Amino acid sequence: MIQLIRGFRDILPDDIQVWQTIEQTAAALLEDFGFREIRIPIMERTEVFARSIGEDTDIVEKEMYTFADRKGELITLRPEATASIVRSYVQHKMYASDPVQKFYVIGPMFRRERPQKGRFRQFYQINAEIFGVASPLADVELILLLSTLFDRLQVDDVQAHINSLGCPGCRPAYRKALSEFLADKDEALCSDCRRRRGRNPLRVLDCKVPACRETVATAPAILDYLCADCRQDFDTVQSFLNQLNVPYRVDRRLVRGLDYYARTTFEMQTGSLGAQSAVAGGGRYDGLVKQLGGPDQPATGFAIGLDRLAEIVGSRQPGQPGKPALFVAALGQRCQNEAFLWLCRLNLEGVPVEMDFNDRSLKSQMKLADKRKADHVLIFGEDERRKQSVILRNMKTKEQVLLPIKGLVEKLIEKIRS
Ligand code: HAM
Repeated sequence: MIQLIRGFRDILPDDIQVWQTIEQTAAALLEDFGFREIRIPIMERTEVFARSIGEDTDIVEKEMYTFADRKGELITLRPEATASIVRSYVQHKMYASDPVQKFYVIGPMFRRERPQKGRFRQFYQINAEIFGVASPLADVELILLLSTLFDRLQVDDVQAHINSLGCPGCRPAYRKALSEFLADKDEALCSDCRRRRGRNPLRVLDCKVPACRETVATAPAILDYLCADCRQDFDTVQSFLNQLNVPYRVDRRLVRGLDYYARTTFEMQTGSLGAQSAVAGGGRYDGLVKQLGGPDQPATGFAIGLDRLAEIVGSRQPGQPGKPALFVAALGQRCQNEAFLWLCRLNLEGVPVEMDFNDRSLKSQMKLADKRKADHVLIFGEDERRKQSVILRNMKTKEQVLLPIKGLVEKLIEKIRS
């Protein structure tokens, strides 16, 4: 038997209901706030991700599925969607008609991480991105959206953690202070952090190795180094979250795993998923559009981890298989052929109908209808066919009526919907 690849999984029909509920709830909310769906490819040239996520990040260093295609061009299965969305915004000059654009994308991402609970190598995200708005109110809108979505899905064990990562103006002073702090701590750091601390000391703050976490616990915090503009932005975010009654926590250690962020960043964290506490993450990435060849337009956004959210929602509302409104028990080939046409017409009218195609006895077909929890069963055998009628049995009341074949589909719709 061929098995699926480690870290990949099938999402089976019993689980899909929760996924659909989340996707539909999120899409409806995002559309209400003016976001429009776009669909982007699953693969991009490697440089789209390498240049934006950052060469020193775990994602780019170790987790990307990158390979040369038959012509030797390096391509990568997308580890995230933001860089691709920026590529699309720039490539199609979407800023030309109006720099302010709001998009959402739902789909799979690929990272070769160590699989564990809540962490997969193919996982799904719902991304929302706002381009062309420098105001911190866009960040407020995103955090409000996340908080509202979790409320609507009745997920209460989630809280917004927010931080500011400063801007190219104030971050160098912080980097210097952090570098100095880390300078004599090599022995306490993992080999990745020892290598990264010179070039990109902020990455050390994001390391998951316990010894590194302990070492940086007393490191200087970027909030103490913000310039006046960044400070004011961050204060505005907090003030509006307060006015909108969105609960949040200022988390001075939050740095996120991607290099493109500046100013406000945030994560939605939960206590119900063990080590994988982030159900969503995002923030402002003002320099990225320009870096990928576009105009100097600000941007901000988030991504929700659908697998993690589905796990939380699913544990509260287990999916129920859909049940048919009508089960057709047709006996013998001739009756089945005729009934099949009714089934197709009813399905096309939006009435969920099922039928057994295996020519079983009436008794076993009735058992099947019972198992599928059908509301009604239509019985059609040679006797009925001769009389040009069918028997409709209400499975709850056990009441049976005889209906003529002439005008049957219309009559059934009327009965089932009444
Ligand atoms: P991220 O924090 O890397 O951000 O991912 C966002 C969310 O995706 C995480 O909070 C988590 O729920 C989920 N996730 C990440 N990796 C995995 C995995 N291996 N298995 C299951 N779930 C996972 C980004 O991707 C940014 N592009 C977000 C963003 C959008 N920033 C601005 N715009």
